[in-house]
Amino acid sequence: MFQVKTFNAIAPEGMERFEKERYAINESDTPDGIILRSQKLHDYDFPKSVLAVARAGAGTNNIPVAECTEKGIVVFNTPGANANAVKELVLASLLLNVRPILQSVQWLEQQTGPNLEEQVEANKKQFAGHELVGKKLGVIGLGSIGAMIANDAYRLGMEVIGYDPYVSVDTAWSISRRVKRAQEMAEVLTTCDFITIHVPLLDSTKNLISTKELAMMKPSARLFNFSRGEIVDTQAVIQAVETKEIAGFTTDFAQEQLLHHPDVLVLPHLGASTEEAEINCAKMAARTLKRYLETGVIKYS
Ligand code: MLT
Repeated sequence: MFQVKTFNAIAPEGMERFEKERYAINESDTPDGIILRSQKLHDYDFPKSVLAVARAGAGTNNIPVAECTEKGIVVFNTPGANANAVKELVLASLLLNVRPILQSVQWLEQQTGPNLEEQVEANKKQFAGHELVGKKLGVIGLGSIGAMIANDAYRLGMEVIGYDPYVSVDTAWSISRRVKRAQEMAEVLTTCDFITIHVPLLDSTKNLISTKELAMMKPSARLFNFSRGEIVDTQAVIQAVETKEIAGFTTDFAQEQLLHHPDVLVLPHLGASTEEAEINCAKMAARTLKRYLETGVIKYS
């Protein structure tokens, strides 16, 4: 019987698989496999028994991957399982940037008086926005999330250009032929109205967007980071927004310095926070871990 340890709970739909197969869950300090969501495992003293760590999500930066590899522990994530949730939030954020939806609702809630409707009609001009159709979107990183965003933004009527030096053959096939591929990131930075980043956090992607890259962007351009906070240099982006070098920054990663800035929209890491995505990730992580423990093969399905 295999022993599995969970850290912060994954959706019960994933755990059911282990229960059905009579795996022991959280019953011993020497598990064969670990399954977790976003809990940081850096201080965890991996017992020798651990063969694999399954992350129910995309990023593996909460797991000491190099240390695991050294010990022969396999680490895997759930590629694509929460991509749709992230894609939908990125598209919503694009809309929030061009239509002052949040600001207009806040304003409206403060209005009172017998002629509310007339008052609103007379003052709503201040909340006129723009449309996405015809605007150019740059997608940096064409993994499962970036590819979905590129395709759907194109379907919405945007001109789309993607950049990724390492795109997989399968993903390359899934991207619409209408999505142009840039040879250099500079082409995306210098020409786009909106730029969204979808790369994993690695030593090579830390501060991928810093002073030099921000200076290449158009003053009307807006940057979106739904990858990991460390991929955009926080001080550099604050400076770029304050000096109007770029028009706005939206991030899914809360940092104190970014809050309360009129041209910065900060979300509390909600990209994958949908019930559907939680279930997809939990099921995929459980399936993959079970298969690996039983057969020694890593195969996503
Ligand atoms: C992911 O890496 O899967 C997403 O950022 C969601 C998360 O970590 O909660």
